[in-house]
Amino acid sequence: MTPPDLAVLPALPDDEVYALVGEDGFRRLVAAFYRQIPQDPILGPMYPPDDWEGAEERLREFLIFRFGGPTIYLAKRGHPRLRMRHAPFVITPAARDRWVELMDAALEQAALAPAADAVLRRFFSEIATFLINRPTLVSPAQGYGTR
Ligand code: HEM
Repeated sequence: MTPPDLAVLPALPDDEVYALVGEDGFRRLVAAFYRQIPQDPILGPMYPPDDWEGAEERLREFLIFRFGGPTIYLAKRGHPRLRMRHAPFVITPAARDRWVELMDAALEQAALAPAADAVLRRFFSEIATFLINRPTLVSPAQGYGTR
């Protein structure tokens, strides 16, 4: 499936995504995402190796709450504070790009309704950029320009 054309789809409000996708859609999406993580050389080592199920559950319940479904995430975890919760992980632009790439692949697999897919794709890309907490490392040997 090619990514939906954002320009021609009617905008779907965030809090209506859950009604369209359902718990099952989020379950399929997050499962497809986490299936790729353990063997990923950049992202795999960042996740808790003994708590894949817990990690999957946290992301799934967060998305369900964020997009208009039951607020189980809030009851269990409180305010998401995603910048703070990601501070322990080194998120470079490369890590951000890989995360988005794997989530885009998961969206392909989950084959959600196009209007919901479009909202989620944009959301993931924006939040992932917001979560970058390290610049790209430039080694002095590469030079810093012409100065
Ligand atoms: C930019 C690249 C990202 C990296 C490298 C990253 C990495 C991680 C890691 C290692 C965890 C801990 C897993 C756990 O035990 O829960 C985590 C948790 C989480 N991430 Fe990310 N993440 C990224 C982007 C995002 C994005 C874009 C979202 C928003 C949809 C997100 C939402 C979450 C949530 C909700 C949790 C669980 C927070 C909690 O309640 O503790 N992450 N992330």
